[in-house]
Amino acid sequence: MASRGKWGSKVGFILAAAGSAIGLGNIWRFPYITGNNGGALFVLIYIVAIIVLGLPIMLAEFALGRATAKNPVGAFNAIRPGTKWHFTGFLGVITGVMILTFYSVIAGWTLGYCLKCLGGQFKGIVREKAALVFQSFISDSWVQILWLAVFLLLTIYIVSKGISGGLEKYAKVMMPLLFVIMLLLLIRSLTLPGAEKGLQFYLKPDFSKINGRVFLAAMGQAFFSLSLGMGTMLTYGSYLKRKENLVSSAAWVAALDSLIAILAGFIIFPALFSQNMMPDQGPGLVFVILPVIFSQMPGGVWFGFAFFTLLAVAALTSTISLLEVPVAFLIDEKKWPRRKATWLVGMVAFVLAVPSALSGGGVRFFTNLPILHKDFLSLWDKLWGNIALSIGAFLVAIFVGYVWKTANALDEITNNGVKFRLAKCWVLSIKYVCPLLILIVLISQFF
Ligand code: TRP
Repeated sequence: MASRGKWGSKVGFILAAAGSAIGLGNIWRFPYITGNNGGALFVLIYIVAIIVLGLPIMLAEFALGRATAKNPVGAFNAIRPGTKWHFTGFLGVITGVMILTFYSVIAGWTLGYCLKCLGGQFKGIVREKAALVFQSFISDSWVQILWLAVFLLLTIYIVSKGISGGLEKYAKVMMPLLFVIMLLLLIRSLTLPGAEKGLQFYLKPDFSKINGRVFLAAMGQAFFSLSLGMGTMLTYGSYLKRKENLVSSAAWVAALDSLIAILAGFIIFPALFSQNMMPDQGPGLVFVILPVIFSQMPGGVWFGFAFFTLLAVAALTSTISLLEVPVAFLIDEKKWPRRKATWLVGMVAFVLAVPSALSGGGVRFFTNLPILHKDFLSLWDKLWGNIALSIGAFLVAIFVGYVWKTANALDEITNNGVKFRLAKCWVLSIKYVCPLLILIVLISQFF
């Protein structure tokens, strides 16, 4: 138990879980996926996905984690020893490492952009120039590898120090600050000329654009943003004390996470349309438009610097949670010391991240993969960030619904006197709605 640790307080837990959830998924991924999938209609489906799929799965992961006090592999083994279920945990461990690889590359971009802001590179910048700066930045192989390495080292350093001291301290101070800066950006963006067109794109659904792809994108984004489907929340739940309220914790985390994502959209889309830019530019979207917004603010250099620094911290609290899953696995199951486990997984992630780092123009093969005509990073993002997480969430629902059984899960959720008024809805969702919806959306991809 010594090397596992426990959360210091309930607020600490919610903030750390929200710290895992809130990150590049909200501020980088949500706007670009929304832009690629037609805007408001996607947002609507996303919100529904958070409520009917995300919240129930999060509660299921919390319950599994706290009931077993184990990593994902250990948790499935503890409840159904001798069965193949622990492979669900393995899938999570692998998915965690894979997401960590491309996620750290984007996180590296935020570090690079901190320096660019400080260096005054974005002063008075217009959109064409911002796009050029971004292009030349991501196609510079050594710069990409350098920032990737710096970011992963930061993550490794914090995870190697362990739970309460390591995670909570950072989450408590930085997240509220990020929120304040975002509110200021919101005001700037909404008052730009032509902002209404952006609001329309963001808020007025065009139902003619509905198709299977939009559903997978929304579902994948819901899981990605809430850090579900690979055992992150399960692992975080495993550090939780008996007396905490799992239901309200899950509700808080989902609400805070959605708030930040929706807010990011309100910043990005009005600004984009006011600059006559296309919303479907892919992963570079926010890195091109944000410098333009900063250049139009008094003190923009400092705003830009503060924003990208806080975004890097938000990304850090997420990569910490990604790395924590394979590390917890090695500590619990293989009895490795925390330091050794952290460094080993971190190094493996670094090597596996190189193709993503070189896929922005650095190496032609990774930038434009043969046959797929996609860059490696986007491919990895879709494969692990959408499909693997959806499969993971599906397996968690089946496991909790039919193997562990919802009655036992409910026992875990309410055994400390917590009242769970929506228990029936939750059971319905875990047993029927989640498995069916996820299956339909996944299968529909092949047609
Ligand atoms: N949710 C984080 C974000 O939105 C990223 C993340 C952290 C994550 N841990 C995860 C995504 C586990 C999927 C699974 O930035």
